[in-house]
Amino acid sequence: MAKIILLGYMGSGKSTIAKSLSEKTQIKLFDLDKIIEDRTNLSIKSIFETKGEVYFRKLEHEIFKELIASDEKSIISLGGGTPCYANNHEMLNGDGIASFYLKGSIETLYKRLISIKENRPLIADQSEEEMKEYIAKHLFDRSFYYNQATHKISIDEKSIEDVVNAILEKLA
Ligand code: S3P
Repeated sequence: MAKIILLGYMGSGKSTIAKSLSEKTQIKLFDLDKIIEDRTNLSIKSIFETKGEVYFRKLEHEIFKELIASDEKSIISLGGGTPCYANNHEMLNGDGIASFYLKGSIETLYKRLISIKENRPLIADQSEEEMKEYIAKHLFDRSFYYNQATHKISIDEKSIEDVVNAILEKLA
């Protein structure tokens, strides 16, 4: 498999699981958010604040296209919104591509995001009360795109290792 793509909502563990999967398989990892931060020399939060979301989404699309076009075998960890903009969901399947939707319940995502929301511009300023409703609605709006993934892996009550093993099983 030439490209393994991980996608899912904020807090679903994409970056952590991709890192572990990369260590286990020795396949090179590309983390889309990190590449965007490196190229712009800005954090995702400051890109949203100073350049706006539209700028971010364009860059995200361009870099995702670049990663897919390369011949290199790789694991690509997407940002939570990547599949939902600029027809990026059309790049989740195809020859040599296996994509994995790391699917969490509203409750699981909410619990995880409470402690790590500061660096996520879409939710950073929300109260805990507001966040739950936001996640529920946002996840509903995005589920069409997430469900375009080749495989869906539940992350509820699962450890990193459990999820990595579930991905490896599908790839076997
Ligand atoms: C976003 C998710 C973030 C990051 C940006 C927008 C989103 O990535 O790309 O803040 O639209 O859901 P993570 O899913 O890695 O937090």
